[in-house]
Amino acid sequence: MRWFVCTLLLGYAFAKHEEYDGSALFSVKVQNMDQVDYFNTLDYPFDIWQYASLMRNGMVLVAKTYVQLFQNELNAKGIEFVIESENIKELLELEDQLFAEKARSKSVRAVDDLTINWDKIYNLTEVNDYLQKVANAYPNVVTLVNAGKSVEGRDINYLKISSTNFQDTSKPIIFIETLLHAREWVTLPASLYAIDKLVVNVNDQDLIDNYDWIVLPVANPDGYEFTHVPDGNRFWRKNRRAGVFPGNLCLGVDLNRNFDINFSQDSSNFACSETYHGPSAFSELETSAIRDILHEYEGRIELFIDIHSFGSMILYGWGTGQLPSNAFEIHAAGLRMAEAIDAVKMEYNRNYRVGNSALILYRASGSAMDYGLAANIPLSYVYELPGFRGVGQTIFGFLVHPDFIEQAGMETWEGLKAGANFVTRVRSGYQV
Ligand SMILES: *[C@@H]1O[C@H](CO)[C@@H](O)[C@H](O)[C@H]1NC(C)=O
Ligand SMILES: *[C@@H]1O[C@H](CO)[C@@H](O)[C@H](O)[C@H]1NC(C)=O
Ligand SMILES: [Zn+2]
Repeated sequence: MRWFVCTLLLGYAFAKHEEYDGSALFSVKVQNMDQVDYFNTLDYPFDIWQYASLMRNGMVLVAKTYVQLFQNELNAKGIEFVIESENIKELLELEDQLFAEKARSKSVRAVDDLTINWDKIYNLTEVNDYLQKVANAYPNVVTLVNAGKSVEGRDINYLKISSTNFQDTSKPIIFIETLLHAREWVTLPASLYAIDKLVVNVNDQDLIDNYDWIVLPVANPDGYEFTHVPDGNRFWRKNRRAGVFPGNLCLGVDLNRNFDINFSQDSSNFACSETYHGPSAFSELETSAIRDILHEYEGRIELFIDIHSFGSMILYGWGTGQLPSNAFEIHAAGLRMAEAIDAVKMEYNRNYRVGNSALILYRASGSAMDYGLAANIPLSYVYELPGFRGVGQTIFGFLVHPDFIEQAGMETWEGLKAGANFVTRVRSGYQV
């Protein structure tokens, strides 16, 4: 019996994160546009974590079988690189361990249902429970809305937060969304923190008096669940749509390439790619649900922020590199938000950069951010929240250090507040 239990535990320990055993995280320093293009067009089985530019190293996760080949190729091309992690599985285990320690050491305190536990990243069930509890406790301010189902039938839920039940159509709407990409766990606290400050622990009453808010914490519920279950994959990015033809083992559509804006111009047609745009624009239930929200409130949403990680950036459209007609205003608001975050960020994180996503990062089409612009939202952005760098400068990338959770929520909230204030100033005729 004892032996049996032991093998079960061992079996579990062996299985978890096993597919990442020996995967290496490379940081690559590109020095000219040819090298930028070479790096940024790496595709499956390579997994780009951070696009490269002349100002910033690229980061890519390379499976064990390709590590040597990739090193040879970089050497042959004369591209400098550093291996940040020789075995990313160790970092995955470190994340598990840090969270387990937090769970064990949690001092006994009376946590009521509405007090967020910043020692953990809520899973899908916990997020939905929390949304329900807030809605139940504050029925005059909060409405829990089901925006539809995911491909695998999970609810896509959002909160409408309003002191006037969304009836005062003169109030601008601010729309915040997180976890369109499943593995970007650190973004969830940004949504939860906003809900807390708008509903439960209100410090700025004018933010609720003057605006209506839509907060969609888990835009990709299937993908997100898959990053949490033991036989899933912590680094899953896309949704969980089944392969398009029988025998195709590659699942999932990159939801942030599936919107009907410049669709398929700058994204992958290859189902295995992390940036696979899907069979057609809005082929996915998750993107269709977001589209429907954007159109339901078209003309009222003045600020839309699709929150991703990582890289400390505030980005705006178009993803093709063209600038929208109000680019100056968009940039000015972006700077205000970035300054507000920088003022309270962790010292070791660099300042936010603000700019057009194609110029700062890489061309991409079919994004939620661009679709927001197309749906007549004057201020539409991607935030790329910072990655955590631990003791000894260990790069966490998509992994979360528990000590950064509340901070990520707090500092992002400062940016969102600055964005809201900008909306008011523009409306009152303030010239940027
Ligand atoms: C989510 O959290 C709940 C409660 O903490 C737990 O019972 C459940 O097993 C978790 N689900 C996953 C997929 O980890
Ligand atoms: C992308 O779409 C926008 C909005 O429709 C359009 O203005 C722009 O010309 C398109 N970009 C390209 C490169 O086609
Ligand atoms: Zn993302």
